[in-house]
Amino acid sequence: MPLSSLFTPFQLKSLHLPNRFVMAPMTRVMSPGGIPDQRVVDYYERRARHGVGLIVTEGTVVERPASKNEANIPNFYGDALAGWAKVVAAVHGEGGKIAPQIWHTGAVLGQNPNYRPQPMDMPSGLSLGGKAVGEPMADADIADSIAAFARAAGDAKRLGFDALELHGAHGYLIDEFFWSRTNQRTDTWGGETIGERARFAAELVKAVRAAVGPDFPVILRLSQWKSGHYDARNAATPAELSDWLKPMIDAGVDMFHCSQRRFWEAEFPEADGGSDLNFAGWVRKLSGLPAITVGSVGLSGEFIAAFRGESSQPASLDDLLRRFDRGDFDLVAVGRALLTDPAWVEKVREGRTAELMAFQQADMGRLY
Ligand SMILES: Cc1cc2nc3c(=O)[nH]c(=O)nc-3n(C[C@H](O)[C@H](O)[C@H](O)COP(=O)(O)O)c2cc1C
Repeated sequence: MPLSSLFTPFQLKSLHLPNRFVMAPMTRVMSPGGIPDQRVVDYYERRARHGVGLIVTEGTVVERPASKNEANIPNFYGDALAGWAKVVAAVHGEGGKIAPQIWHTGAVLGQNPNYRPQPMDMPSGLSLGGKAVGEPMADADIADSIAAFARAAGDAKRLGFDALELHGAHGYLIDEFFWSRTNQRTDTWGGETIGERARFAAELVKAVRAAVGPDFPVILRLSQWKSGHYDARNAATPAELSDWLKPMIDAGVDMFHCSQRRFWEAEFPEADGGSDLNFAGWVRKLSGLPAITVGSVGLSGEFIAAFRGESSQPASLDDLLRRFDRGDFDLVAVGRALLTDPAWVEKVREGRTAELMAFQQADMGRLY
């Protein structure tokens, strides 16, 4: 089989995976009142049945007044936990593995102007555009947010999830602490350097680690880019990237999920006399920890354009395989291809390339 190395097992602490494919977290906004229902259970069960190595759920939010920006984003507290328990049972029933993506949307507003819970949590009261839109978080809000993430982590383990992922990417709350534009605090939660601004994430990881114990895998998703700000960067050089990662490694992260829109883009093309390593490749090299890559795997176009209506055709996996075989990353997350087609991994494994489907924007409107 030409892609056989991607179908080898992977182990991280208590997590054993049969292959290297991860379902990328994808917000579906289809959990009425924040409670995942049977349609959500069936949706994840279908991906497990067709051989996805690890499912990372859509972002599911912690218990804070304004932790989500759309009413039908699933909660990860209260009555929603019973719904998530059914998801776990269904995925395990098919022999799958699953991690919730634990989320807080921070200062990013949703589409519905009538859904605006308050007070919003933001490090400095600033939107991603840099506008004053609220108050900086008080120390008590920061402590309560960290505690809410830790509670969610404890619940993930208690419900039988196999790992958890913290959403530290794309300009949401955790990333707003990383980014100099949105974190202008002069106390211990801010600072001139990315290492200083990583303190919120590091304290959060420490609390999560304390809640789940040493053997439960904790994944942290990071990105340089932010929603609507695709050139933004938290780390402009490999040295800054090391500085960014270190506090989170020390706090107990097990694996980084390195979000790019196109996995083949070099992160620091000027470094090392011209390097084609992508974000995951650099994170893995500098952290010594396993890394997940993501971004337009198996598709011709990237996902932000998908929200504007662009469809994507199936694309070759050759460059992905070249980088994987070189040891750049350990796992490969697939978003839209798996949203469109629950059997994508199975078709790839069996070499049924003619059956791979194009991604259409309409696929985002249904939960199949
Ligand atoms: C409908 C949709 C919802 C998404 N929601 C999330 C999310 O909740 N959390 C997250 O970290 N990324 C989210 N993403 C980004 C994906 O995880 C992934 O990084 C992106 O789609 C690129 O992968 P792809 O090109 O294979 O689709 C979302 C993407 C899509 C298409």
